[in-house]
Amino acid sequence: MAESVESEVSAAAGPAGLARANSVQPHVEAPDQEAVTGALPPVTQGVMKFAHPSEMEFARILDFYGVKWTYEPRSFPLRWDGDRIVEMFTPDFYLPDLDMYIELTTLRQRLVTEKNRKLRVLRELHPDVNIKLLYKRDYHRLLAKYGYGPLAQEDIRGIECILIDTGQIQKRVMELGRQVSLDYTGTHPVLVGVLKGVLCFMSDLMRNISLPLSLEFMSISYFDSHEKGVKITKDLDRGIRGQHVLMIEDIVDTGMTLNYLLNYLRTREPASLKVCTLLDKRVRRLVDVPLEYVGFEIPDEFVVGYGLDYMEKYRNLPFIGTLKPQDR
Ligand code: IMP
Ligand code: MG
Repeated sequence: MAESVESEVSAAAGPAGLARANSVQPHVEAPDQEAVTGALPPVTQGVMKFAHPSEMEFARILDFYGVKWTYEPRSFPLRWDGDRIVEMFTPDFYLPDLDMYIELTTLRQRLVTEKNRKLRVLRELHPDVNIKLLYKRDYHRLLAKYGYGPLAQEDIRGIECILIDTGQIQKRVMELGRQVSLDYTGTHPVLVGVLKGVLCFMSDLMRNISLPLSLEFMSISYFDSHEKGVKITKDLDRGIRGQHVLMIEDIVDTGMTLNYLLNYLRTREPASLKVCTLLDKRVRRLVDVPLEYVGFEIPDEFVVGYGLDYMEKYRNLPFIGTLKPQDR
């Protein structure tokens, strides 16, 4: 009977139990003493044997939100040849508090199809088992559904999906900071930011620049049908003549704002004037502005978070996401 075999396997399976029959994914055995469980001890993160980097990332997200997890604690038999189990399925994670198994999947269609087949069989044989197949962008939404994480907050129900997650942002900002530090070695650059969208990016970026530097901020009025043109509502506090100026932008869309500002700043005669933008919506560009440093090129979507707003909302999200159509 399926039931009795299952309970035997469940008891014996786990890191020191039966060899896994999952031939689809490259498989790495968990450490042999005990099951790998959250939270990730920082010293072992580098050597923790997850079969795929996305699994480690998922474990980190779970740790971040304080959700308990176990890595591959149980194997489910799917097919027998007489008494012999010839196929098994070992879901990636078990979340005890939610009584849920999670199988992560990448975008490679061949693997997804095979996983879907296994899941179908598993659900037929073990209808009581709660298992979910997750794509990367699903992680955050799943967590939100169970009340964890920023997506679960009342005022950000409008997020459609996460375009760039916190880890990706931090990694890229660190790289940009390093590059700026190299390129401006021996100088004391002035970073000029345009409020307010640039707030998160600028504060993270400057902490990754290993040079003495100064900060300046400007504010401008954005397009509205009553105004005749861009108005500078807050100008630089100090002159920039003869200085190396790096304009920091959150996002360059049509390029019109930046073009206006660069023209204005040039009249103040800096020694050099370059641009560092976190996001580049290149497909929407109308005015060609030179961008020296670009964090991410993004598609033609309205994005919020990490400083960017929609009607002053969403600036405090730690990631960059797109809005649901009805909330735009
Ligand atoms: P541009 O003049 O069309 O390049 O617009 C640049 C400014 O528009 C940015 O500094 C943002 O303040 C705003 N903006 C453009 N696209 C977005 C977006 O997707 N989300 C939030 N703000 C945006
Ligand atoms: Mg802006």
